[in-house]
Amino acid sequence: DWTAEHIIDELIADVQAQVGDGRVLLAISGGVDSSTLGLLLARAVGERLTAVFIDHGLLRLGEREQVEAALRPLGVNLITVDARAEFMAALSGVSDPEQKRKIIGREFIRAFEREARTHGPFDFLAQGTLYPDVIESAGGEGAANIKSHHNVGGLPDDLAFKLVEPFRTLFKDEVREIARLLGLPDAVRMRHPFPGPGLAIRCLGAISEEKLDILRRVDDIFISGLREFGLYDGCSQALAILTPIQSVGVMGDERTYSFTAALRAVTTDDFMTAEWARLPYDFLATMSNRIVNQVHEINRVVYDITGKPPATIEWE
Ligand code: XMP
Repeated sequence: DWTAEHIIDELIADVQAQVGDGRVLLAISGGVDSSTLGLLLARAVGERLTAVFIDHGLLRLGEREQVEAALRPLGVNLITVDARAEFMAALSGVSDPEQKRKIIGREFIRAFEREARTHGPFDFLAQGTLYPDVIESAGGEGAANIKSHHNVGGLPDDLAFKLVEPFRTLFKDEVREIARLLGLPDAVRMRHPFPGPGLAIRCLGAISEEKLDILRRVDDIFISGLREFGLYDGCSQALAILTPIQSVGVMGDERTYSFTAALRAVTTDDFMTAEWARLPYDFLATMSNRIVNQVHEINRVVYDITGKPPATIEWE
């Protein structure tokens, strides 16, 4: 594809002209925008890029490994930070959704600043800002866009880098095409959006390691199932939710009193409004069976049949 290849050469030349021999810091979220930016910057400035991926313990099963496997072989100087314990401690006992978001945003900035100081100094901060973010500054997918992503005010003055935003004129589809040419694996390239606060806002109420572990296994069965049955790309976003509801069930001769998991899948153009995805009943039956068979902490599975509005896509 001549056009996209041409755009890549141009973007690389622009970055090189802007950055000179300066050093660049990039936050990797695991989404397509920041991952693609990492690949582009690795081509443009090589080792003078430091990409930081913060594992806050609210990721999906195998996500950190997937990001490492996608980026390191293609030359991205990637540092992964295990910040799970500090996020967990900060979130202990917190059940209010907005409070959770605030805390995660604050902890993210704290961990990111620490890495910036440890591996710095840096001259530039790269962000995967897209054209739609520029015109409505509303949001987009990425931890690439730290501010909107984590709903916080940003970095302190002594870390006031100059911004590098090569995707400012691009749309998502164009970034996906660039990603393809740069060799980003399809699993990352075509991934559904995943919120910055991650599984914390899908584990309703106060979170714990145990609850996150249950949710991570349910989510993995659902998302892998969607891929296996060829339904993933037809949904705009799919998620599993661990509810705090315990209900009575039966397993063999035993009465159980276990948690309810909810599955949600939506189709949407802009994420402002959404329809619930009409997934086939047989598929839902298979998912329900797999979940209750493999995740013993769950004895009931429900499918969310609510549009947005009035519901939101996330449950918190
Ligand atoms: P809602 O739940 O508001 O979600 O219908 C719309 C889209 O935004 C994502 N979302 C977030 N993304 N930080 C993010 O980075 C957040 O706090 C957040 N809350 C919701 C959600 O996953 C969906 O794609």
